[in-house]
Amino acid sequence: MMKKKLAMAVAGIMVIGLLTGCGGKTTETQEPVTEQEASAGEENDVQEPGGGVDSSSTGEGLIGVSMPTQSLQRWNQDGDNLNKFLTEMGYEVDLQYADNEVPTQVSQIENMITKNAKVLIIAPVDGGALSAVLSEAKEAGITVIAHDRFITGTQDVDCVGTFDNAKVGALQGQYIVDALDLENAEGPFNLEIVAGSLDDDNAAYFLGGAMEILQPYIDSGKLVVRSGQTTREQCATEAWQTDVAQARMDNILTAYYTTERLDAVLCSNDSTSLGAQSALKSAGYGTEDLPFPVLTGQDCDIANVKAIIAGEQSMSVFKDTRALAEVIAQMADTFVKGGEPEYNDTETYNNGAKVVPAYALDPIVVTKDNYKEVLIDSGYYTEDELK
Ligand code: GAL
Repeated sequence: MMKKKLAMAVAGIMVIGLLTGCGGKTTETQEPVTEQEASAGEENDVQEPGGGVDSSSTGEGLIGVSMPTQSLQRWNQDGDNLNKFLTEMGYEVDLQYADNEVPTQVSQIENMITKNAKVLIIAPVDGGALSAVLSEAKEAGITVIAHDRFITGTQDVDCVGTFDNAKVGALQGQYIVDALDLENAEGPFNLEIVAGSLDDDNAAYFLGGAMEILQPYIDSGKLVVRSGQTTREQCATEAWQTDVAQARMDNILTAYYTTERLDAVLCSNDSTSLGAQSALKSAGYGTEDLPFPVLTGQDCDIANVKAIIAGEQSMSVFKDTRALAEVIAQMADTFVKGGEPEYNDTETYNNGAKVVPAYALDPIVVTKDNYKEVLIDSGYYTEDELK
């Protein structure tokens, strides 16, 4: 615990120490976002963002921010936070959302290149589909920062700001081990897996991290996957869509769980967990005789935190989008001013063309027991938002 607090403190100090920038404007028609500053709050393990940016800094020029979609809550927060921090640092911001369409994202990025963006901050719809447009960016001397998701198969990405995504999966897997007491209980327990989108490299890290912990129990027979679906391809959820996850879980419950009870569902994030929850409710789960299985998630979306409070979802993994936006805004500002950002991982993230230097933040398990401390005390949500 102390190590984590120290790590967070160091991260926070580093972000404050390296941030520079001044009041500026955005080319977006959007109004600056509502304040998401961390509240004073009691000291806790939450990644306290660096407390905003230095409004006397002298950042100038255009920064392109390319987000994948607005249909999943967290990307709206990522976009808003980046817009806020970069604007406060003095930059113009061109914030675009690609509606989960690769051609749309490519043309939005091309437009940012045409507008002489100094830096491109990109959370890709498909991390392997940007090589051509990023070679144009590189020719134009534009720095490219991957935001949370990896950009693969190209040398033309300078760095990535993300979370320790293998750890996200490990936290989900370990939660299932602990909740079912797999070390001591007789078993066997029935498990199903709902993984992320095949075009998102993060999904491989989440599933890999979880299966590193769960596979030994599957091998020993203490965990049984009655559908037999355990690979990334078999468990994938296209574009992380809730309805796709729900339809697949409907089919699995109908085919394999009419006489057997499902004990745990490993869901790689909250939007897929919502789909699994709907399918489970339709199959009669959530009653005294048939309680919900252990259900994981990630992102602490509002709908899912409400489900955690209601006892329908067991846990989510918190990735503080404010902290990520501060790290990435600081990276962009450092590049613009001719410097090289701080990284805390220059070995792990091989994107198939190079090892991409990274700053990876720590994720945090959120349950009914600590959501107030992690999410409300830190100012991420208000009590009312979770009612
Ligand atoms: C991943 C991201 C997760 C999850 C998912 C769907 O790349 O790291 O936090 O939200 O996309 O948006």
